[in-house]
Amino acid sequence: MCGIVGGVTNKDITTLLLEGLNHLEYRGYDSSGLIVLSKNNIFDRARSVGKVKNLEDNLKARDNKIKGNIGIAHTRWATHGEPTINNAHPHISMNSVSLVHNGIIENYVELKNDQLTKGYTFASETDTEVIAHAIDFAMKSCSTLISSVQLAIKSFSGSYGLGIISSKYPDQIIAARKGSPLVIGVGVNGNYIASDQMALLSVTKEFIFLEEGDIAEIKIDKITIYDLDGNLVDRPIKTSNLKPGQTDLGNYDHFMQKEIFEQPQAIRDTLESRITNDSVLISAFGDKAEEIVSRIKQVQIIACGTSYNAGLVAKYWLEDIAKIPCNVEVASEYRYRHPILLNNTLFITLSQSGETADTVEALKTAKKINNNISTLCITNSAESSLTRLSDLIFLTHAGPEIGVASTKSFTTQLVSLALLTCSIGKIKQVINKKQEREIVDGLKRLPGLINEALLQETQIKKLAIRFKTKNSALFLGRGTMHAIAMEGALKLKEISYIHAEAYPAGELKHGPIALIDKDMPVIAIAPNDELLEKLKSNLQEVKSRGSQMIVFEDENSKVQELEAMEVIPITSNLGRITAPIIFTIPLQLLSYHVALIKETDVDKPRNLAKSVTVE
Ligand code: G6P
Repeated sequence: MCGIVGGVTNKDITTLLLEGLNHLEYRGYDSSGLIVLSKNNIFDRARSVGKVKNLEDNLKARDNKIKGNIGIAHTRWATHGEPTINNAHPHISMNSVSLVHNGIIENYVELKNDQLTKGYTFASETDTEVIAHAIDFAMKSCSTLISSVQLAIKSFSGSYGLGIISSKYPDQIIAARKGSPLVIGVGVNGNYIASDQMALLSVTKEFIFLEEGDIAEIKIDKITIYDLDGNLVDRPIKTSNLKPGQTDLGNYDHFMQKEIFEQPQAIRDTLESRITNDSVLISAFGDKAEEIVSRIKQVQIIACGTSYNAGLVAKYWLEDIAKIPCNVEVASEYRYRHPILLNNTLFITLSQSGETADTVEALKTAKKINNNISTLCITNSAESSLTRLSDLIFLTHAGPEIGVASTKSFTTQLVSLALLTCSIGKIKQVINKKQEREIVDGLKRLPGLINEALLQETQIKKLAIRFKTKNSALFLGRGTMHAIAMEGALKLKEISYIHAEAYPAGELKHGPIALIDKDMPVIAIAPNDELLEKLKSNLQEVKSRGSQMIVFEDENSKVQELEAMEVIPITSNLGRITAPIIFTIPLQLLSYHVALIKETDVDKPRNLAKSVTVE
């Protein structure tokens, strides 16, 4: 949710700022902008509405004359104020302070009213501009830029990741974070800041991950960090294992396509060192995992978006296989109600980014409600807010996911949750050695099974054409396949803008069946499980109402193909754990190909952002 990049070097910084913004565009792309201190310490700024490409064109039109050794840049996902040039970052106060911001200043109206009385004028409708004015005002009574920022920040409530420069202090960037991610890149010819390491991989692999409340003074050859209370602190430098090429498109047309096809490898990576030939290693969840799991009596899963759908699948597994009660809830609801959290609860947060604001806040809320709970976060991001707040950490090892619509994160989350289910089942002694071996065998087969499912792409591509003129679609499934249907509907909505709903097939007759006609395609998932016969009856009910149906089935399900009904075999004889993971694949491919036909921006769908670090 908004991306920040900046740096102070002995070379021109503009190219790196643009390159960094391109890597951060997944965080928002309503508008973008950059500012440098040019010769004589004058601010030189460019801003454009829309994608970073527009900013690049804007700079070209100015003969790429914006140059300087110190600068900051931003790609925006609008919260306060529409995506206009005036609302685009960086913002400037009195030609003295300029900054980029990720987060929300909740008391900005109050601050703005006060600043108006002090003579400040406002060029934007954002909550961010008050930060610039507050720092400028603090500079009147402070002797350094960092002390001005420390003073100003005391008046803000809300969240921020900030990159700040000043024409009066041309040798430094101030970085500050609270509730929004920010890393410092430690380079040879300079030092940098960014919302995400990916933006800086071309200049460094060495990173300092700022902690909540940290404020840093970054000069070309020196980094000084203070904590929230103003104490000088030493944060470790960590070497990133990300490779620059990992974030390139390679031979693919879109990141989403690349990430769909990367799933076999991503799952291999998730499983590596977490299983042996025939068993799951409980220690993969951390040294304290065995002790914690032997104590727990129930599980609460919290997540948003696609991660929430993964949690819904896990509820079936945890109750059915590990025999432990499990609740799943979206973070934005959980954090604001007054839930009952029993002792001996394992509180699990699921999040690709580890930074989703609602999920982070839900975890904090849970800890306040009952400090005796144990917490586990399953995430793709080792250095994130969630990992810092959790007792146990499990990394999905999916590799960087750039496409806004999540694909390999979802399937690797499912694999992680399957490992957890098996671990809990083992510790609680409700699964035996044979069952454990079957689960491990199934997980090991997944990469091959996914490759087989991907072979149906040509057929799915043909089906996608049917959606060209459709406005709505219905996804049906039962059991874990209801959660997979939800994920299929979410994918279609996100990238093709077709309204899509998912229903448990048995619930259809209680309302949604009224919607069915020839213009409403129905997509059903038919694994060969104990609910198959029930599902087949539901499909008949739909069919007799004139719907155009697509059924993704297990070869042995033998759904009878009728008129205006396409049955596509995806796999055969899968178990409770492998089936939902494999049936995800055709739904990802379907939404991807529908989006291509609708000519939407697959990797950067309108109004969305990959990492939602504001409420
Ligand atoms: C955003 C993204 C979704 C993602 C959700 C949760 O809405 O567009 O793709 O599923 O956030 O993100 P998380 O990083 O917490 O999994």
